[in-house]
Amino acid sequence: MENHLLLCIFLLIPAFASSDFLVAHVRNIKKRNADNDLLFLRKARDLIPEVVNGIEIYSMKIDSKITSRFAHNVITSRAVNRGNVHKEVFFDVELPKTAFITNFSMTIDGVTYPGTIKEKEVAKKQYEKAVSKGQTAGLVKASGRKTEKFTVSVNIEAASKVTFELTYEELLKRQFGKYEMFIKVKPKQLVKDFEIEVNIFEPQGITELEAEGTFITNDLQNIIKKTFSDKKGHISFKPTLDQQRTCANCSQSVLDGDFTVRYDVKRTAPDDLQIVNGYFVHFFAPTNLPKLPKNVIFVIDISGSMSGRGIEQTREALLKILDDIKDDFFNFILFGSEVQTWKETLIKATPENLDEARKFVRGIDTAGMTNLHGGIMRGIDMLNAAHERNLVPKRSASIIIMLTDGQPNVGISNTQDIQEHVKKAIEGKYPLYNLGFGYGVDYSFLEKMALENKGLARRIYPDSDAALQLQGFYDEVSNPMLTDIELNYPENEILDLTKNNFKHFYDGSEIVVAGRFIDNNQNHLTVDVRGEGANDALSYTTQQDAQQTDKAFQEQEYIFGDYIERLWAYLTIEQLLEKRIAATGEEKENLTAKALDLSLKYKFVTPLTSMVVTKPEDYNNQDGIADKPIEGIAQAVTGVTLAPQSYLYTSHPTWYTSVDGDPHFIISVPQKEDAICFNINENPGAILNLINDPVTGITVNGELIGDKRANSDAKIQNTYFGKLGIANKHLDLKLTVTPEKITIQNGNEKTGFTWLDSVTLQQEGLTLIINRKKNLVLSMGSSASFVIVLHQVWKKHPLHQDFLGLYTLESDKLSEQTHGLLGQFFHPIDFTILEIHPGSDPKKPDATMIVKNNELTVTRGWQKDYRRDPKHGVDIPCWFVHNNGAGLIDGVHTDYIVSSLF
Ligand SMILES: *[C@@H]1O[C@H](CO)[C@@H](O)[C@H](O)[C@H]1NC(C)=O
Ligand SMILES: *[C@@H]1O[C@H](CO)[C@@H](O)[C@H](O)[C@H]1NC(C)=O
Ligand SMILES: *[C@@H]1O[C@H](CO)[C@@H](O)[C@H](O)[C@H]1NC(C)=O
Repeated sequence: MENHLLLCIFLLIPAFASSDFLVAHVRNIKKRNADNDLLFLRKARDLIPEVVNGIEIYSMKIDSKITSRFAHNVITSRAVNRGNVHKEVFFDVELPKTAFITNFSMTIDGVTYPGTIKEKEVAKKQYEKAVSKGQTAGLVKASGRKTEKFTVSVNIEAASKVTFELTYEELLKRQFGKYEMFIKVKPKQLVKDFEIEVNIFEPQGITELEAEGTFITNDLQNIIKKTFSDKKGHISFKPTLDQQRTCANCSQSVLDGDFTVRYDVKRTAPDDLQIVNGYFVHFFAPTNLPKLPKNVIFVIDISGSMSGRGIEQTREALLKILDDIKDDFFNFILFGSEVQTWKETLIKATPENLDEARKFVRGIDTAGMTNLHGGIMRGIDMLNAAHERNLVPKRSASIIIMLTDGQPNVGISNTQDIQEHVKKAIEGKYPLYNLGFGYGVDYSFLEKMALENKGLARRIYPDSDAALQLQGFYDEVSNPMLTDIELNYPENEILDLTKNNFKHFYDGSEIVVAGRFIDNNQNHLTVDVRGEGANDALSYTTQQDAQQTDKAFQEQEYIFGDYIERLWAYLTIEQLLEKRIAATGEEKENLTAKALDLSLKYKFVTPLTSMVVTKPEDYNNQDGIADKPIEGIAQAVTGVTLAPQSYLYTSHPTWYTSVDGDPHFIISVPQKEDAICFNINENPGAILNLINDPVTGITVNGELIGDKRANSDAKIQNTYFGKLGIANKHLDLKLTVTPEKITIQNGNEKTGFTWLDSVTLQQEGLTLIINRKKNLVLSMGSSASFVIVLHQVWKKHPLHQDFLGLYTLESDKLSEQTHGLLGQFFHPIDFTILEIHPGSDPKKPDATMIVKNNELTVTRGWQKDYRRDPKHGVDIPCWFVHNNGAGLIDGVHTDYIVSSLF
């Protein structure tokens, strides 16, 4: 690290430097102009090393091969260290959540370091070892609605080259009559040789092919080359350096967004059977069937927490859905503390009834708590009664769609009891779809209950497009064509069949079944198809032999021969993992063992396995690891609320801790994809020790200030940090920061700046960047970096005054002996959350946390991270520990009160 500082030698003396101070060691001070500011800000905040370090990514290729819906994608990135000292190079890509990573390797100067797939527990130990040694490790994290982020970094010597190669595979699902594949594109710098190439081979023939990018401008549109004929499709996108620029002379890349490929295949028959090397796959998607009438019950949560945007968006979505309901039977059930129904029974969607329904929907308002059990049971009873009394057509598809944003807390609120009652009442007769709105839901409960009842759970993200998400989900299930579909294959010929019976088949989708022949040489298959349609039962037998598949594939060179086997493995693992969600005891163990076994055998990074990359010994002996996050409460929350740029770019310090605002502390726990937070309530004037490292000699203390006048009504006064003191004993350096000025004392010499200055200062062991009126970034020697954020309030605010926030970066560079209110959390910390249950605030459930062998009651909440947006901050979901962090911090909070800033 020290070497880096030698790279930039600035010789400008700042015009603003006060002549009162003279600093002997300050060699490099530069006053920056406004244009540079932007760049510096970005660098300082995002800490994207490839920009700072001048690493050149000279090639990036995304190569995708799709054979019979199975996509095999390889991302290759090549970089060179243009500097004259060793540097860290980052590789981070976002991939679809539905994909499994299957390979990763790094090649440095011609030597390849491959990734190996290991059982998660085994890999985790390696990871923890790396982290406890203060080393960085690569990770896959949830990072968006439909993506996960893979990050890894490696140190390379000057003039050396590194190639990263990541492979992932996924089975493309058909929805609304198309297969869709998206590729996240974000090279973050101009790349000389950039290319996306997609080759599609579909033995049935391709009927349409589209490619588009969210970042594609009119100019770029014609760079996308697209061709398809019969079975083959080809897309390439290869913008030159100049075409990548945001403007003629800009060095920023326009390549930032989703590149999406959509296509469909020809269907001359409902079935397509393919047989290769002892495996088969059956694609079933009948067309031209009459639509089945459907009976839909909407069970809607109107508890208090839905008030505001939640209920508005729900009304908006329901009104749109009502426009699409024709000839169906439907009803609304609302649950708050009480359960209300619109009509006593399902009624037909006549124009008059729809008008009345619209009036009802417009009048829906929030009330009370969350009687989820009451609502859903009423819906099931109503549907059961409608069938028993023949109130709905005999040949029809019934579905229940439930929307909730909270956790049951009225009536029967034990989730296991609810699951049991619901399963017993539905008896597999109709699918239950659970839509979880926002982050207050117990998503795993909703998912289990839906899967147990042949449906699925979906998360609705509380963004401006929530109404569209709800409508989009409805569209997926709005056109049932068949019920009770069974695809039967001769039992004595097939092993390891994937799921082969399905409650509903929806128009525009596709059913996929795969299996393995007992006799590896078998080349013939018969299937018996059954289902219930609108007018009559569907029942026929169809067959296929391997020669037909062979013939279809003859013209194709690139086919990877084992694709059907891999497709089968992918589908089997996916279904085992899904079954596992609702399973318990020995059944769960068996499912886990099977899924793990297949993941290892076929080298898929699934929630049960990890990819471990052992980096070259010569460079830091670091281990990287790639895990697949599991969709659960914590992950989903992290993945969504935190925009990637606010959290994941800083995954280099996989760790971060901060204190900001009414002093609230946020401790990120990366391996949990979650955070813990707590507050310290002390009187203005108290000085708290935040960090103390006897080895590097670094201490950070903060002095509290209160509001301009005390609020006599409040029991606890708001306090903030009004002064921070950062000292490095070994360097004889003291930095004092207040909302007015920044003072550096080096031995006996002092220099000072104000927050109106823009400064980049480099001297022996110290780098200081002041971003005018916003924040300052400080690095000391090879030790940790800190970001201090300035919060300015309105000058005439009757109560509040300006204050500071402190964020640590690269805290792994401090020693293991580091302590202090923040410093103690630089060491890995683990916790377990048990018994999530309703708390006093319906939006904030309570839970039991086991941490440091203590059992604490914690509350789910949010704290603000102000690094990106000092005005509004970004909400970080976290588990809040009450009583000044009691039980979480070592000792009691008063142990951390010190007598002076230094
Ligand atoms: C993984 O990728 C590396 C580098 O391309 C290659 O040498 C290796 O064979 C691949 N492994 C598998 C299992 O495909
Ligand atoms: C681009 O920069 C060059 C050199 O700074 C300058 O001569 C040229 O006019 C610029 N072009 C545009 C379009 O701004
Ligand atoms: C689990 O697997 C074992 C060994 O294969 C088997 O004996 C047992 O019946 C299975 N249990 C369940 C619940 O599936």
